[in-house]
Amino acid sequence: MKPKLKISGVGKAGGVTSEVLEAQLEHHGHTDAVVVKRTHKKTEGSHFSYSDAALQKAAHKNHVLDRKILERLQDYPGVVVPRLHKDYSKGRQTVMSDFNAEGYTLMQERIIETTLPSITAVNAARTLANLQVALRDKDLMQGIKPVEDSITQIRERLAEAHVLLYGKLDCYRELEAKFLSDDGLLYSVGHPKNMAVNGSGEVMVFDFGRVITGSQQFVPANFLAHIGLAWIGGVMPQDKAQQFITDFYETFNEVIPIEEKWFVRFFAAELVHRGLAMRWIDPRMFKQVRKVSAKLAVHAVFLDVYENECTTLGALMGSLENHASKLL
Ligand SMILES: Nc1ncnc2c1ncn2[C@@H]1O[C@H](COP(=O)(O)OP(=O)(O)O)[C@@H](O)[C@H]1O
Ligand SMILES: [Mg+2]
Repeated sequence: MKPKLKISGVGKAGGVTSEVLEAQLEHHGHTDAVVVKRTHKKTEGSHFSYSDAALQKAAHKNHVLDRKILERLQDYPGVVVPRLHKDYSKGRQTVMSDFNAEGYTLMQERIIETTLPSITAVNAARTLANLQVALRDKDLMQGIKPVEDSITQIRERLAEAHVLLYGKLDCYRELEAKFLSDDGLLYSVGHPKNMAVNGSGEVMVFDFGRVITGSQQFVPANFLAHIGLAWIGGVMPQDKAQQFITDFYETFNEVIPIEEKWFVRFFAAELVHRGLAMRWIDPRMFKQVRKVSAKLAVHAVFLDVYENECTTLGALMGSLENHASKLL
């Protein structure tokens, strides 16, 4: 029987630069639940909105890089990724297993619905640290070249920190230089919309098109800032958030030593990046507190880090506790 790909037309939530549709792949006498990720067509109601030809071209390049890395990671120990159906993935279309059909749910949804198992902290840390190790394995990643420019990406990610540090530009420049200081590959989008979790807290990771070069010290802060926001926003209770951050930090640190001062600085920069303009943040993240108050809390933590000599994980947790609890 000839293989058949039936796209249902139901788009998955979360896509920004591409659209991801539910589909069934009938091949070799059985049917697999898959998704089709693509950048060349747009279905009614899908999130992505590349009307500009130049941006669309860049999105296609990201897409090809995304698939190449996904392919290299198929059997990499300690990093679970969706299974790639290579024969049916061509050009601007990737066909891969649908993680929802395998019992996984987008991590962002589990955070908001408060169904995130505690062990997720350890598993997410191992996944992201192991992924960093994979990306720095020159043999495994031979021929892999980032599409995006690191400077452009860091200016996007640190834009809010740049504005807030306007009177302290040396400090901002140090942050930027640190981000760019290492020319190994960096997974700069390790956040809860690019990860899925099952009922046992096992973690899957996907979406590799925005891999760039830079310091892997950014990785733990990039991810944990989302837990900070869930805490400030009142969707994750304080004790759970504290435990999560501690477990993640310790586990990641065992694989890749974390430089505490830089962790704290990147964390605060990410917090203002995500929290102020709600960049890629689900509005449900700020559930129990008024949005403006949450934004003030985000500012207050930033201030502690950049003006009040908060340089350790313990001091950062104290600052979060102080400002988050005032809101609830
Ligand atoms: N293999 C998959 N199975 C199920 N859903 C997926 C899968 N891959 C992506 N998605 C869904 O599609 C969304 C967008 O996919 P992603 O790869 O992150 O693309 P983008 O580059 O647009 O962010 C994800 O947030 C997730 O909800
Ligand atoms: Mg994504």
